[in-house]
Amino acid sequence: MEALKGIRILDMTHVQAGPTCSQLLAWMGADVIKFENPAGDATRGQLRDVPKADSLYFTMLNCNKRSITVNMKTAEGKQVFVDLVKTCDIIMENFGPGVLDRFGFSWEKIHEINPKIVMGSIKGFGSSGPYADFKAYENVAQAMGGAMSTTGVPDGPPFVTGAQIGDSGTGLHLAIGLLAALRQAEHTGQGQYVEVAMMDGVMNLCRVKFRDHQRLTRGELPEYSVPTYKGMGEVPRAGNDSGGGQLGNAIHCKPHGANDWLYIVVQEAVWAPLAKRIGPELGMPELASDPHFATIGERRKNQQLMWTLINKYAEQHTKRELMGILNSLDVPCGPIMSTEDLANDEHVRGRDMWVELDHPERGTWYNVGMPIKLSDSPAVIKRSPLLGEHTDEILKQVLGYDETQVSALKKAGAFSVPPKKAA
Ligand SMILES: CC(C)(COP(=O)(O)OP(=O)(O)OC[C@H]1O[C@@H](n2cnc3c(N)ncnc32)[C@H](O)[C@@H]1OP(=O)(O)O)[C@@H](O)C(=O)NCCC(=O)NCCS
Repeated sequence: MEALKGIRILDMTHVQAGPTCSQLLAWMGADVIKFENPAGDATRGQLRDVPKADSLYFTMLNCNKRSITVNMKTAEGKQVFVDLVKTCDIIMENFGPGVLDRFGFSWEKIHEINPKIVMGSIKGFGSSGPYADFKAYENVAQAMGGAMSTTGVPDGPPFVTGAQIGDSGTGLHLAIGLLAALRQAEHTGQGQYVEVAMMDGVMNLCRVKFRDHQRLTRGELPEYSVPTYKGMGEVPRAGNDSGGGQLGNAIHCKPHGANDWLYIVVQEAVWAPLAKRIGPELGMPELASDPHFATIGERRKNQQLMWTLINKYAEQHTKRELMGILNSLDVPCGPIMSTEDLANDEHVRGRDMWVELDHPERGTWYNVGMPIKLSDSPAVIKRSPLLGEHTDEILKQVLGYDETQVSALKKAGAFSVPPKKAA
């Protein structure tokens, strides 16, 4: 049985942050009803690669959901919404600040309609504080949560990371909060409001940088390859430093293309075998006993030289060859995998992390698979819904409306975009 079988979610989320969360819950077996503005989630039409087809932006974030379109700016649409709230266990949204209130449905109102329902909200900055009224996108959250100021090289500008920690990261946080609140509601019969601010989520993911921020009040950060000093205040950008207690860096390998790099962590325990292996080829047979590198403290002090030596050794090997050599020495390492590498990787395919799907408008496409593997209820990934594909099904099956009611609501414009007023 699917883990969340029987849980119904009214999913008003759009773009990326919310849909990431509801897709994961759908993959765990929840019945996710994507409640869309009749114009559709804006991502359906964004960055289109196939004319008139739902974009990959949409399809990759909305699998295993059913779509209903409802115009919340009509009285009839609002009634459908209220009826759905009554039948769902979770409602979730990531509108800009105040949108749901403007519809007339604050959390208090929703709680009154269905006291057991759990409500999840994603906002850029939460519902309190000086930033509460601001909208946010991924990189705004990365900028404001500490990720950008700590990513990049010291002399260069701040950088965003390719991993969507502001959007998808926040979606993950929300999923955890929703499941906890759902569990509590099972005991108490009372739902609660679960809020995750994107800025807070990014700060959570930057926790180790705030560790270093506080360490700077007591002294330098000896593991950093860039200069640091007591009282420095802000944590500097430190390129590809490991960020942990062990030294790490990206090593350029043969044939020295854009992604011919291997990330290596020189764990304390592996220095001796690593030095014994690379030293002789570098003409330094005594490297393992060289006092410049004998202790972790010395290696921190002389890390630039250590990386130069390892880079020199890597000149003769591809990233895959070097990975083989280092793994045989138990050195933690990983090639920098391009998207092309990953889409063709045997390990990735074997773990169902690059999944082939079909779609009536776009034909064959691929989605990144479900990263959470439940032994008794593995995810079965199904394509994303077309806009309003399940409107009638949901009205009849979930709400028990009959054909006459459905037609009357349609006529009243409950499920459609209002006609443009004549000028
Ligand atoms: C992402 C974001 C910036 C997009 O801004 P936006 O495109 O202006 O969209 P908003 O959510 O602010 O507004 C949605 C509009 O659609 C309307 N709408 C949404 N669903 C509707 C429905 N079913 N029927 C009728 N209208 C609907 C809303 O009423 C609102 O219009 P209004 O401003 O006239 O009230 C904003 O939603 C946001 O800050 N969200 C929270 C943070 C977040 O999740 N960001 C990451 C996104 S990946």
